[in-house]
Amino acid sequence: MKIKILRQKRPDSEPYWESFAYEGAKDISVAALLDTLNFSDDIINDSGEITERIGWECSCLQGVCGACAMVINETPALACETFLRDLDGDEAVIRPLRKFPVIHDLIVDRSSIHENLKNTDMFIGEYRPGGGDHARQYDAAKCLKCGLCLEVCPNYTDGGSFYGAVFANDCFLVASRNRDKAGEVRKNYGSHFGNGCSKSLSCADVCPAKIDTVASMAKLNRKRG
Ligand code: FES
Repeated sequence: MKIKILRQKRPDSEPYWESFAYEGAKDISVAALLDTLNFSDDIINDSGEITERIGWECSCLQGVCGACAMVINETPALACETFLRDLDGDEAVIRPLRKFPVIHDLIVDRSSIHENLKNTDMFIGEYRPGGGDHARQYDAAKCLKCGLCLEVCPNYTDGGSFYGAVFANDCFLVASRNRDKAGEVRKNYGSHFGNGCSKSLSCADVCPAKIDTVASMAKLNRKRG
């Protein structure tokens, strides 16, 4: 297989494509592929030149932490859950998420996701029991904060005032678990999601946790009503 990777040495340097040849089995994930390419002392590209180790992030390797989110053959996905056997053709084109600043190779700075939640006070804090709808709360709480939903969102730009599906789901959680915050949630949801969502709903298609964001939206839109 030909593996083409969009690389970047530093945040302020120019990105460039570099290709690698992979001749092993296709029954491995893209995460395992990156590990394989990085495994030897000398990393050789497909021009036979020694090159630097490929930078990428992972932690759990089982679709739980969200660290390995990237774009694989133009599809935003988790590298540890994407298998070479499922890719079309004999080429894998891998690039970092485009909505966030690149730090190094496939590693991006997703701190804006957490900053947006922090700055609007949209985190759970003290839990007030009795919110009901626990199945929905459990679903929304599965969010990995991986950023894949933001990658495909036509309305989200890093640093903009529209915070995307990740924010809508956390608004739903906060509203469900702490009624004292209901007014604040309504205001923030409207300003940073409700008034800017064009309902392409591509966020739901790529979510690795399969969160039903539309259900969170329906609940919060009703509350705004
Ligand atoms: S390494 Fe944790 S989701 Fe892929």
